[in-house]
Amino acid sequence: MSAPLDLAGRLAVISGAGSGIGEALATRAALDHAMQVVVADVDAGRADAVVETIRTAGGQAWAAVADVADWDQVARLAQETLRAHGAPALVVCNAGVETTGLFWETAPEHWARTQSINVNGAFHLARAFLPTMVSGEQRSQLLFTSSIAGVGISAGQSAYHVSKHAVRVMAQALAADLESVAAPVGVSVLLPGVVATRIFDDATASNPQAEQLRATYADYLRSAGVTPDSIATRTLTALLAGERWIHDDPALSRRMLEPHAADLLAGLEAGEPEVATA
Ligand SMILES: NC(=O)c1ccc[n+]([C@@H]2O[C@H](COP(=O)([O-])OP(=O)(O)OC[C@H]3O[C@@H](n4cnc5c(N)ncnc54)[C@H](O)[C@@H]3O)[C@@H](O)[C@H]2O)c1
Repeated sequence: MSAPLDLAGRLAVISGAGSGIGEALATRAALDHAMQVVVADVDAGRADAVVETIRTAGGQAWAAVADVADWDQVARLAQETLRAHGAPALVVCNAGVETTGLFWETAPEHWARTQSINVNGAFHLARAFLPTMVSGEQRSQLLFTSSIAGVGISAGQSAYHVSKHAVRVMAQALAADLESVAAPVGVSVLLPGVVATRIFDDATASNPQAEQLRATYADYLRSAGVTPDSIATRTLTALLAGERWIHDDPALSRRMLEPHAADLLAGLEAGEPEVATA
């Protein structure tokens, strides 16, 4: 990527910006980096409250209500944003939901909701803005919120793991496409660890055991999670520095990634199979 990224005075579009990490990214982008921010969320009340906070503190923000799982709603959001504010410097595919439960007990509708919002939602938002960004003259940036759950595996959250690995791969596949045409668009991936947000309060659970796990995680995030604000501050600095992978807890990322990578490599280390020749 040639030209450095310039954010000041330019537009950010952030999904899931009505709460948690998205809210903090929107607030810090507006107040610390003088960005104009479209606060997109499926929940109008949450988006309006964040806009109010930013405006009261002297920043510029607008609320946009859209369900990222619905392509028509996201396409409309992009059209209206481009018409009203022009091309974004930063698009953050951040909206995400959690679901708990063992694989074979996960309700199909919970599985589908998780993939629709976390995976299709990220694709929809990126897809809606990318044509404008690819043909733009100024450098712009996409940020995907994956997770430590997107580099490792643990029990009881299979639907979420699949979605977060998919978001991480989506970002890598997109980056390869952008590089193949020398597009002026950078791609970064945020891999949060444990962050004090409401994600497990809003999560679905398939049965009483899954509900217990959901409640345990909700308490854990509240007691052990870092603040969304600290992640947002570090993330925006990392974007300006051109970082591709933004780990908020590198030691935890490593503890998740290493066993997963070792598992994938184990088949190779066992040796190449003999190939029979005719
Ligand atoms: N909190 C953590 O510890 C943690 C860790 C790793 C990754 N993440 C990821 O960070 C991202 C943000 O999560 P958070 O923890 O801030 O959660 P959060 O619940 O505080 O915020 C998520 C926001 O997304 C919105 N949203 C939900 N469904 C939507 C939809 N269909 N369309 C548009 N908006 C929708 C919600 O209304 C909410 O405002 C998610 O992608 C999550 O997977 C969170």
